[in-house]
Amino acid sequence: MKKEKLIKKYDSQVSMYENNRNNPTVAGWREKLIKSAYGKVLEVGVGVGANFPHYDKQKVSEIIGVDFSKEMIKSAEQQAITNQLHVHFIHQDVDTLSLQSNSFNSIVSTLTLCSYPDPVKTLNKYNDWCQEDGAVLFLEHGLSSNILLSMTQKVVDPLYRRFSGCHCDRDILKIMEASKLQVKHIEQYWSGMVSLIWAKPNK
Ligand SMILES: C[S@@+](CC[C@H](N)C(=O)[O-])C[C@H]1O[C@@H](n2cnc3c(N)ncnc32)[C@H](O)[C@@H]1O
Repeated sequence: MKKEKLIKKYDSQVSMYENNRNNPTVAGWREKLIKSAYGKVLEVGVGVGANFPHYDKQKVSEIIGVDFSKEMIKSAEQQAITNQLHVHFIHQDVDTLSLQSNSFNSIVSTLTLCSYPDPVKTLNKYNDWCQEDGAVLFLEHGLSSNILLSMTQKVVDPLYRRFSGCHCDRDILKIMEASKLQVKHIEQYWSGMVSLIWAKPNK
């Protein structure tokens, strides 16, 4: 799918993401993961700011949120105000974004690895941007470890991609392994379709 079309798709999905922002199951996963973020944080594909209520304000000094959808950023700006968080937003494609090496303590990616054209390349950018002793945190959906479910995901992926803009059949753990990042801890839910991952850079 062309990038402009994908951005338009995400622009049009803002109200759906706003309605899902308080989904209790997903909020529970976010809470578990996001409390590990500290210092200067980069949140990629920030969406409508669904992670904002879960940051520990005592531990986080600065948040930079990136998204290529202007409409998502508009919604996230409101969410930052609601949560009394100061967030600096960058309206840009993560794939073309250039940031200083070793400039973040934490990088947060939730439900975004499914949409990048070359996810390993994107992960390697996080490896570069994050400090050596920093944290790279993921909540991602992908291919199930259940054979029947994974076969179904592979079959429906082209249609899923057309309607949602993202892939449902990405093997998240394989993508992690192929990247430079070093995985420290993984928790999986829903037959492996949801992964919480605590990783660190490997310099
Ligand atoms: C599925 S939503 C998830 C939003 C949010 N992270 C969450 O957990 O609810 C994916 C978000 O990533 C953004 N996104 C996808 N690909 C991107 C890219 N290459 N550069 C910047 N933002 C991107 C989309 O606009 C959208 O806001």
